[in-house]
Amino acid sequence: MTIVGAGNVGATTAYAAATRQLGDIVLLDIVEGLAEGKALDIAEAGPLQPSDCRIVGTMDWQETADSDLVIVTSGLPRKPGMSRDDLLAKNVQIVKDVAERTAKYSPNSIVIVVCNPLDAMVYAAAKVTNFSKNRVMGMAGALDSARFSYFLARELGVSVEDIKCVLMGGHGDDMVPLPRFTSVSGIPVTELLDEEKIAELIDRTRNGGIEVVNLLGYSAYYAPAAGVVRMAEAILKDKKTVLSCCAYCDGEYGAAGYFVGVPAVLGQNGVERIIELKLNEAEQAQFDKSLAHVKQLAAKVDKLL
Ligand SMILES: NC(=O)c1ccc[n+]([C@@H]2O[C@H](COP(=O)([O-])OP(=O)(O)OC[C@H]3O[C@@H](n4cnc5c(N)ncnc54)[C@H](O)[C@@H]3O)[C@@H](O)[C@H]2O)c1
Repeated sequence: MTIVGAGNVGATTAYAAATRQLGDIVLLDIVEGLAEGKALDIAEAGPLQPSDCRIVGTMDWQETADSDLVIVTSGLPRKPGMSRDDLLAKNVQIVKDVAERTAKYSPNSIVIVVCNPLDAMVYAAAKVTNFSKNRVMGMAGALDSARFSYFLARELGVSVEDIKCVLMGGHGDDMVPLPRFTSVSGIPVTELLDEEKIAELIDRTRNGGIEVVNLLGYSAYYAPAAGVVRMAEAILKDKKTVLSCCAYCDGEYGAAGYFVGVPAVLGQNGVERIIELKLNEAEQAQFDKSLAHVKQLAAKVDKLL
């Protein structure tokens, strides 16, 4: 696989993927020495893990040729006071460049986009690569679901493993966590917590990204990398994993022609299926609001590409 961008998310993804022995990794960046240095450091951890994955760092796209998976983390991250949308104009140019090269060097790859604003960058990557829609997707739902699950597990005093949740919509403040489809080992969370407490945890989830940005001064990367690796593993091992990801909707949930967060089945063909839940009126209204925002950003991408 290729990981584009050897910054915080890219390098951490490479480390986590090597730890889980997901296969050989090419880490690529435009900053001289960065990808090479990170790759060497990760490779030198191999004997201790132990992990036999071959990992190389490079600035040369030729070394990425014929990758099965390309993970796009190249892009500016936000700083305190910034929204993800503030990154659009700069990151769309980076994604355009990376998508063109991905299509040239790895025409049969599956692409996972990570850079923000997420849903708009997935839209841009799909447009530029012109890959079939199941082969282009974005990582956000895995991270947002993990944040919600973590907050619920701490509140309830149960294992994080026991929480299963569904989260939809765009990767922004208007994301749509769905408590009705969230359970603790099969017990609906609505049976265990009152509405007010659930609303409080949803609010913290929606602001999960900025909470870390405000603490660190830069954006999160351990949990985002774990989210990417979960998706990569599902695809590379053809696991048919059900998780929320930014996927192309062809009418599902009333979204036609857009990439937005939905529950999906991930396997060797990328997004193999979108699971359509019967949302109630309030849930659908929240999703529609989030989708409207995703559409606005996609229109901006269309103007910039
Ligand atoms: N989807 C999510 O849930 C999520 C979570 C965290 C971060 N992000 C996003 O991921 C992106 C990366 O975040 P980060 O913290 O790793 O940033 P970072 O600044 O640490 O790393 C970005 C790297 O991309 C490289 N780069 C820039 N242009 C490039 C190009 N054309 N080709 C190759 N490499 C290039 C930079 O040199 C840098 O090393 C940001 O856009 C951030 O907002 C998304």
